[in-house]
Amino acid sequence: MDEKLKIAIDGPAGAGKSTVAKLVAEQLSFLYIDTGAMYRALTWAAIAAQIDLNDGERLRQLLDETTIRLSNEDNKLNVYLNEADVTQQIRQNDVTAHVSLVASHELVRKEMVERQRQLAQQGRAVLDGRDIGTYVLPDAQIKVFLTASVEERARRRFEEQQAKGMESSLEQLKEEIARRDNLDSTRAFAPLKKADDAVEIDSTNLSIEEVAAKIIELVKERTR
Ligand code: DC
Repeated sequence: MDEKLKIAIDGPAGAGKSTVAKLVAEQLSFLYIDTGAMYRALTWAAIAAQIDLNDGERLRQLLDETTIRLSNEDNKLNVYLNEADVTQQIRQNDVTAHVSLVASHELVRKEMVERQRQLAQQGRAVLDGRDIGTYVLPDAQIKVFLTASVEERARRRFEEQQAKGMESSLEQLKEEIARRDNLDSTRAFAPLKKADDAVEIDSTNLSIEEVAAKIIELVKERTR
């Protein structure tokens, strides 16, 4: 198998990308790079520093002063911001609500994409995000566009939050997901879009394991 093989998994919020990507990476012993976690880490830092999230230049300045490290430890992805563990904080609702705005700035994205390409250079890797197959790694050998209905995505987030003991409302989650879809797909620079050569998988009626198995099958077919 190609030493530099890359798997790009893109799609809207809540389609199961990160869980699937992690499982595929584990099963194939690939590196897992969660690019959304990087935008989340910056958003968390910007909120903590009370920076105006509409100010792309200021956000870029903050990013330039900030290290973001993704570390796969015991089958769990930990995220470090300037070496402080922010794994839990970046999943908080205020980060989720503002991350699409932070990720919409071209100055921010250009630097993030540089960092993502550098991380991916280390070897075989699975990356999940919105623009991996179209922009970050247009030459990725395997590209998947993972979708699911808004209702199903909201239901999954609801169950996740319930399991964590977080307060949540299904209706609110549905609205939030639809709002993020809209922001992510309509931003001017590198929007969420299926790459022409991506294989679309609708996960509405599939389990995580079934989706992962389909992707691994694709890898086997393409590397045969
Ligand atoms: O996958 P996620 O929900 O953790 O992503 C958080 C946000 O970051 C999402 O709303 C869009 C943005 N994002 C992006 O613009 N490009 C990526 N490659 C990954 C995430």
